[in-house]
Amino acid sequence: MTYLVTGGAGFIGANFVKYVLAKHPDIRLVILDALTYAGNIGTIADELKDPRVKFVKGDIVDSEVVAKIFSENEIDFVVNFAAESHVDRSIENPQLFLETNILGAQNLLENAKKAWSKGKDESGYPLYREGVKFLQVSTDEVYGSLGETGYFTETTPLDPRSPYSASKAGADMIVTAYSETYKMPVNITRCSNNYGPYHFPEKLIPLIIKNILEGKKLPVYGDGTNVRDWLYVEDHCKAIDTVLLHGRPGQVYNVGGHNEMKNIDIVRLTIATVRRLTEENPEYRKALKTAPENINDNLITFVKDRLGHDKRYAIDPAKITAELGWQPETRFADGIVKTIRWYLENQDWVDEVTSGEYMKYYEKMYANR
Ligand code: NAD
Ligand code: TYD
Repeated sequence: MTYLVTGGAGFIGANFVKYVLAKHPDIRLVILDALTYAGNIGTIADELKDPRVKFVKGDIVDSEVVAKIFSENEIDFVVNFAAESHVDRSIENPQLFLETNILGAQNLLENAKKAWSKGKDESGYPLYREGVKFLQVSTDEVYGSLGETGYFTETTPLDPRSPYSASKAGADMIVTAYSETYKMPVNITRCSNNYGPYHFPEKLIPLIIKNILEGKKLPVYGDGTNVRDWLYVEDHCKAIDTVLLHGRPGQVYNVGGHNEMKNIDIVRLTIATVRRLTEENPEYRKALKTAPENINDNLITFVKDRLGHDKRYAIDPAKITAELGWQPETRFADGIVKTIRWYLENQDWVDEVTSGEYMKYYEKMYANR
């Protein structure tokens, strides 16, 4: 099988590349990534030495680039991770999110349709090469925001509220349109918030870890009571691979681990864990750019809230568990320690990905909060 993995140099895409190469010895991968600020080729440097892997630097919106990939490789699966993924950036520049996330998905679908269709049936629907599939990696954010109770299921109406989630919902709708109109074999997975290695430090958990190590303030939006449902990234990768191989065409699968946490609790737990790990292990103290006694809750600062800040996300993953037997394997208590250890051991990676425009971004985004 040959997978086209878009966004394979980003957080989840890179974890997926590592996961499937280890899991399936006989696959081939073509990775398409534009290497935006969020993509880092160094993250997949070892994988790029693997003869099973090809890398193409390019934009998913560019029809020529995508058509060339399909003409030069017999692609069986498209797994579309490539996206602009940060809500705060979408508030600053919505248009880029619509271009990449919606037009990019449509361009991939169109090229896949052309490459995969072999004639038509008597009603005029395209017929497809056996075994092909397009998987759109979506998010629970397309369902909007929950109150104190309830869960998102696959039948919850789409109700996106940020430019990011609106663009992801738009992509989901065009994927569904290709499934209905052209009978293209597709799946959509909608996962809750991921955490783990290679997470870019603009998102809550890696940003907090980075700031703690530098003794910088930890910006908590609003009153810190917003709730996210956290899943270890490898569990998400496993879910995607399972849906790709076994999901019923045309179906949506929610992915989540029943792990709701308030932001403020995540921040407090992260502080306590960094403090404990650096106290226990002298090697980890090398990652500190501040005195160990500075690592305490006084670093927390409540800042101006995000515009349109969704209150609560919570996924009901019953369908993927019942139909495909998927279950999360990493408990949050273990996953957060694994993640923090990874950052303590991989400060070179953090320095590399934050050496570009990151500081400018940080100053601009947090200056007037
Ligand atoms: P990320 O921002 O870390 O990575 C995105 C990758 O896409 C980067 O490598 C970037 O260079 C690449 N990219 C961006 N624009 C591109 C373009 N026009 N052409 C080609 N490549 C491009 O994102 P992530 O957190 O790894 O998320 C991956 C996918 O999973 C996204 O579609 C996101 O919506 C979805 N998702 C993320 C989460 C989460 O918690 N991070 C949860 C659910 C779903
Ligand atoms: P984030 O990691 O950006 O993911 P998403 O917005 O897609 O859920 O944010 C997770 C939560 O943390 C969200 O409620 C916003 C909040 N947050 C902060 O309080 N401070 C921060 O500096 C960031 C980046 C996020």
